[in-house]
Amino acid sequence: MTNFEEALTKTRQQVDTYLQSLIHAWQGRIPVRLSSAMAYSLMTPGKRFRPFLTLNFVELLGGVSHQALPVAAAIEMVHCYSLIHDDLPAMDNASLRRGQPTVHVKFDEATALLAGNSLLTEGLYLLSDTKTHSNPQTRLELIQGLLEASGGKGMMGGQMLDMESSTKFYSLSEIEHLQNLKTGAMIAFSCAAAGLIMHVQSSLLKNLEKYGYNLGLAYQIRDDLMDVESTALVVGKPVGQNQQAQKPTFVSLLGVEGARKKAEDLVEECLSLLESFGPKSDLLRSATLFVLHRAF
Ligand code: IPE
Ligand code: IPE
Ligand code: MG
Ligand code: MG
Ligand code: MG
Repeated sequence: MTNFEEALTKTRQQVDTYLQSLIHAWQGRIPVRLSSAMAYSLMTPGKRFRPFLTLNFVELLGGVSHQALPVAAAIEMVHCYSLIHDDLPAMDNASLRRGQPTVHVKFDEATALLAGNSLLTEGLYLLSDTKTHSNPQTRLELIQGLLEASGGKGMMGGQMLDMESSTKFYSLSEIEHLQNLKTGAMIAFSCAAAGLIMHVQSSLLKNLEKYGYNLGLAYQIRDDLMDVESTALVVGKPVGQNQQAQKPTFVSLLGVEGARKKAEDLVEECLSLLESFGPKSDLLRSATLFVLHRAF
């Protein structure tokens, strides 16, 4: 295993243990069927790439990653909510996620809606908890950041544009805007959250966000490449979804090679944003390159 793979595995273990403790605390407080669906979604084997970014940027900025676990977990909870709803019949109508049946298939559609909503609210509740950060102003900034990244001004806005893209003509810059909202906003927040936790200056916060938006766009381009080139067995979710729904992407507009080149350019920009940190950013450099070559 490379250093990066080892670090990603370590993050997965850290985040999974923390999530398990949250799930445990839901017992007796959240109806069993609802908490079971929430737990099912959370504990399917995700990459935990967004938590990885938060935890490792906190370390890069001189903090201790362990202290950022609640924030990383909140981000993963909101991400899982988005996946549950994204897979619903009214949206992408997918029956496979992370190699397992989607929540509405395993449970039912009503439960999937409620589990998604509850993961969103539990995630935000977690950010309001004093254990998450001792400074109330910082907690408020984290809550506002996650609300902005996940709602209509961010991920949900992107999902709306994505749904409309099946029937509307979109230019390349409109697709970029859609993907910045749909995927970029949450990845940018995953990076910026580290800056908020560590109270960095606004210029550095802006750079973290810029890095995250570039990386998020490359991340979505890779997702759309896998949708064309891979198999459900490898990616753990259906492939060919974009073409089936006639959704325009960088891949459909620029072709496979053009899209790959665009992702490479974005990753180059990300690497140059990491340069000022020197060798201690090596792990994040590997994470940045992983986005270009990830197989799932
Ligand atoms: C899938 O995200 C949705 C996109 C925005 C591309 P990931 O590829 O990070 O999914 P998991 O969390 O590892 O399953
Ligand atoms: C979804 O994009 C992005 C989200 C906000 C969930 P996709 O619909 O392409 O994600 P996958 O391919 O189903 O993971
Ligand atoms: Mg979708
Ligand atoms: Mg989808
Ligand atoms: Mg996809």
